[in-house]
Amino acid sequence: MDLKQSNKILKQFAEIVKKQQAVRPISPKEKLKVGIDLGTSSIVLAVLDHDDVPLYGAFQYADVVRDGIVVNYIDSVKIVKKLKLQAEEKLGIELTSACGAIPPGTGETAQKVVANVINDAGFLAHTIIDEPTAAARFLKLEEGSVVDIGGGTTGISNFKNGKEIAVFDEPTGGYHMSLVLSGAKKIPLAEAEILKRETSDEREIFGIIRPVAEKMASIAKQYVVLNEAAPILLVGGATNFEDFVPTFSKVMDHPVLRPEYPQFVTPLGIAMFD
Ligand SMILES: Nc1ncnc2c1ncn2[C@@H]1O[C@H](COP(=O)(O)OP(=O)(O)OP(=O)(O)O)[C@@H](O)[C@H]1O
Ligand SMILES: [Mg+2]
Repeated sequence: MDLKQSNKILKQFAEIVKKQQAVRPISPKEKLKVGIDLGTSSIVLAVLDHDDVPLYGAFQYADVVRDGIVVNYIDSVKIVKKLKLQAEEKLGIELTSACGAIPPGTGETAQKVVANVINDAGFLAHTIIDEPTAAARFLKLEEGSVVDIGGGTTGISNFKNGKEIAVFDEPTGGYHMSLVLSGAKKIPLAEAEILKRETSDEREIFGIIRPVAEKMASIAKQYVVLNEAAPILLVGGATNFEDFVPTFSKVMDHPVLRPEYPQFVTPLGIAMFD
């Protein structure tokens, strides 16, 4: 694992997503790798070249997946199709295949649904992996655990000698933080969601949702197989608070690391499997 290098790639990817431009001209003969992350909070598309260098990326906030399960099939396909067309326009090349992912332990049916969404959007979905495995691949994690806290789910996977030894999934995530904030501030959920992401006073906001983060950590503690020699890697958009890492680490009683732009770790890892 090389967190510095991972952070460099994540930063590049975040810039690409912001600019909405391909990083370089693409030859029509190039075989590109595509990852589609159907998340509770957003759908992310990541395009890499043959050497896993990010070329393009985009996302759309969407409410089409709940607890890792596609609940709005038609809109999921529409959004993936739109992201695909936009990407093809920017890259000047047709994207043919893509890899997708599901939270660990959601089963074969969920896997088939994700594959169908990707296929109906015009890709050939040849691999559907589990999300923390994708995150671990991006981070080149051989030993230790990845905890992926997204909008609606927390996925945990433990690795030994580069092999996944156990995975778990809990239906808790950033959505539950927004719910608590909405109640505490007496504001609608949608407003709380935006306040949480764009606050100018992160300390105050995290103060309100700290108990949720602590609860998440105590859930994770049940499933993480602690490895004395390896840190716990935290990823997923919900971990985007400065105090999240020390809070998590204290409950886990173990060192915790979080890469930059943690919401892009899993999508980039998914693309690496294409
Ligand atoms: N800057 C931020 N500060 C706090 N929370 C954030 C920030 N950016 C995103 N989030 C939260 O991260 C969550 C989304 O994370 P992510 O994109 O990893 O989820 P997802 O993959 O869509 O969902 P899941 O993996 O649960 O299906 C949302 O709850 C969102 O509010
Ligand atoms: Mg996710």
